[in-house]
Amino acid sequence: MNHRAIISGTGHYTPEHVLTNADLERMIDTSDEWIVTRTGIHERRIRSKDEATSDFIVAAARCALEQAGKTTAEIDAIIVGTVTPDYKLPSTASVVQRKLDIPKAAIVDIAAACAGFIYGLAMGQSFVESGMYRNVLVAGAETLSSITNYQDRNTCVLFGDGCGCAVVTRGENGEKENGTGILAAHISGDGRLGDLLNMPIGGSKVPLTPENYEQRGHLLHMDGREVFKYAVREMADSCVQAMEKAGVGIEDIDMIIPHQANIRIIEALVKKLKANRDKVFINIQNYGNTSAASVPIALDEARRAGKVTKGMTVLMTAFGGGFTWGSAVVRF
Ligand SMILES: CC(C)(COP(=O)(O)OP(=O)(O)OC[C@H]1O[C@@H](n2cnc3c(N)ncnc32)[C@H](O)[C@@H]1OP(=O)(O)O)[C@@H](O)C(=O)NCCC(=O)NCCS
Repeated sequence: MNHRAIISGTGHYTPEHVLTNADLERMIDTSDEWIVTRTGIHERRIRSKDEATSDFIVAAARCALEQAGKTTAEIDAIIVGTVTPDYKLPSTASVVQRKLDIPKAAIVDIAAACAGFIYGLAMGQSFVESGMYRNVLVAGAETLSSITNYQDRNTCVLFGDGCGCAVVTRGENGEKENGTGILAAHISGDGRLGDLLNMPIGGSKVPLTPENYEQRGHLLHMDGREVFKYAVREMADSCVQAMEKAGVGIEDIDMIIPHQANIRIIEALVKKLKANRDKVFINIQNYGNTSAASVPIALDEARRAGKVTKGMTVLMTAFGGGFTWGSAVVRF
């Protein structure tokens, strides 16, 4: 590996409309008290009718590029982590390229669910370290409201919409020597557990038809209890692997940015890692679980709030359907 990959800019976008727990109380048999104690979520953002996933990315990418000091013409590749693409074809990365008027770039979507941003970051890091590209735009973006079953109280209270982006750039200012940049990433998965969080209808296996539409299998289905168990175990293990690869210990981490799926998952993870709770960034109360967007929204909020500053070492981790999981250690 010849080059060091750095995160040169971040940005995020969340839609304006807020869906509160009180709103959900009027839609399904639930309560604010149940949702807050079981998940930590108070509200989530929901797209307007005319907003697609690519629109979120365009807004977030503009902020990230501005912070990075990069023009759209400098982007060599666009990687979009999403399970809610604008279309099945072309990819959302393709739509983003057109909307941002990026002249030539490799464009690809990755369907790694909630771990999509970490997967994208690991791929961006590899592209830059290998010398293949100089600037990669990595997005984690979801309009989960478009695939949420608002009749299923087990899932619909959890999810929200949003997007976060990072520009992964070749470091040319001695980052390798001074130990800054993306120090390590770890990504993994276990396809044997795919049925625990899925959308069984609407693909080539069982196409969506007028007859099976009422089964609502084209919407998200989840066995929450099982997901919870694996999420804690695999995120903790992945954090340890990424830290080992980076040559750092938990005491060296200044901020942990975990996937915002459930406050109890975050607390169990912190306990398993023997981490300091004060060094964990949490915004789940405002957005719920935004899948691939969750980590990059939190990262950008933390940076813009001055909670992650130059010289700090950040541990990011996520877990999602597939199952997929991954972690990254970045020194800013
Ligand atoms: C979904 C989740 C919040 C459920 O919490 P839990 O403590 O495991 O709750 P359970 O599934 O055991 O359900 C407990 C009870 O609450 C009920 N319940 C479920 N959703 C409810 C809601 N929105 N409001 C009120 N009651 C609800 C259940 O029906 C169940 O009732 P019962 O005991 O009479 O059968 C939790 O399992 C979770 O967060 N899992 C991970 C999900 C996730 O983050 N996935 C994304 C990928 S990372």
